[in-house]
Amino acid sequence: MLLAPLAQTLTERSGSVPLWAARAPGRVNLIGDHTDYSQGFALPMGINLYTLAVATPSTAGSESIRILSTREGEARLELSGEDSRSGDWTDYLRGVLQQYRQRGIQVPAMDVVIGGNLPLGAGLSSSASVELCFASLIELASSQALPTMERALLCQQAEHDYAGVPCGILDQFAVSFAKENRAMLLDCRERSIQSLRLPSQLSIAIVDSRVRHELADGGYAARRGEVEAAQEQLGKSLRDASVDDLPEITDDIIRARARHVISENDRVLAFAAALASDDRQTAGRLMYASHESLSRDFAVSCDELDTLVEAAREAGAPGARMTGGGFGGSMIAFVNVGDEAEFARLINKRFSGAGFGHADIRWVEAVAGAKAWKWT
Ligand code: GLA
Repeated sequence: MLLAPLAQTLTERSGSVPLWAARAPGRVNLIGDHTDYSQGFALPMGINLYTLAVATPSTAGSESIRILSTREGEARLELSGEDSRSGDWTDYLRGVLQQYRQRGIQVPAMDVVIGGNLPLGAGLSSSASVELCFASLIELASSQALPTMERALLCQQAEHDYAGVPCGILDQFAVSFAKENRAMLLDCRERSIQSLRLPSQLSIAIVDSRVRHELADGGYAARRGEVEAAQEQLGKSLRDASVDDLPEITDDIIRARARHVISENDRVLAFAAALASDDRQTAGRLMYASHESLSRDFAVSCDELDTLVEAAREAGAPGARMTGGGFGGSMIAFVNVGDEAEFARLINKRFSGAGFGHADIRWVEAVAGAKAWKWT
């Protein structure tokens, strides 16, 4: 179990056993990328790759949260006085803590050890996962449980304010509301969720392109700006626009961005209908179409991801696409049960043959969202 080594580290550091534990999954988006911040649709699920944390109250007199991240280092977050962005991994935690403090919630001083097996920066929402793991822990330690929606929105705000990424609600909602064995159709305007069965007889692969995206470095914000420009020209949300509106947009690039978003929303709804009738062929075709659109019209793919998706198609996978914000990150593929080994062989051959090295393939399942619990 992944938590046991974290608990041992905590005990070695603080001299006491954990009192609280928390975990949050990563997410993979099956379809519907760059649609959330224009009130559209997305269709993610939680995955069995996690951020985990254990914690214990600090000895008397401490006014801070002492954190050891087994993957990123040590930090101390102050519980009183001013706090500000530090420009590193701790901003996700600082941002979340700040949100609770602003709400007047008394967060106790504690020692925290945080770790997990969710790859960082691979397009699987490691930042939302860290935020929600820490938020769940804070709420348990402070005996203040917020409604799930409020917690998700609080973490989104933390990301805006502290990490400087103007993200939509996709990641925080997926990590918060995920259900075991289910994907979710997320309506980002209504903030409503419909739980959907996954197709039968399919395995889900995530392949890391190993190109590390930095959403904070401007590409994401630039795309968001382009989508806003399109909405301004049309005088309405892209959620309410159709392809017939596209000729009204004069700039070629802005028109292409809008074409992606409008067509992607249609694909998400068609994908949800395909899942409802267990039609994996149609669902898979929509995934390939989504990739094409993200790569050509939205320009957020890269050679490594395009190569992976082509290789998946050649390997006979029913569906594959880049997933998440892009500029690197991961591909998701639907693979017929029984074809996993051959899929892995072919993907590796093609990926390493193109000079991109060994392909990192993970087989994932849909799991429940973030939670915290008493350790003892
Ligand atoms: C990132 C953002 C999300 C969403 C996706 C693209 O993951 O955090 O809000 O916009 O990119 O679908």
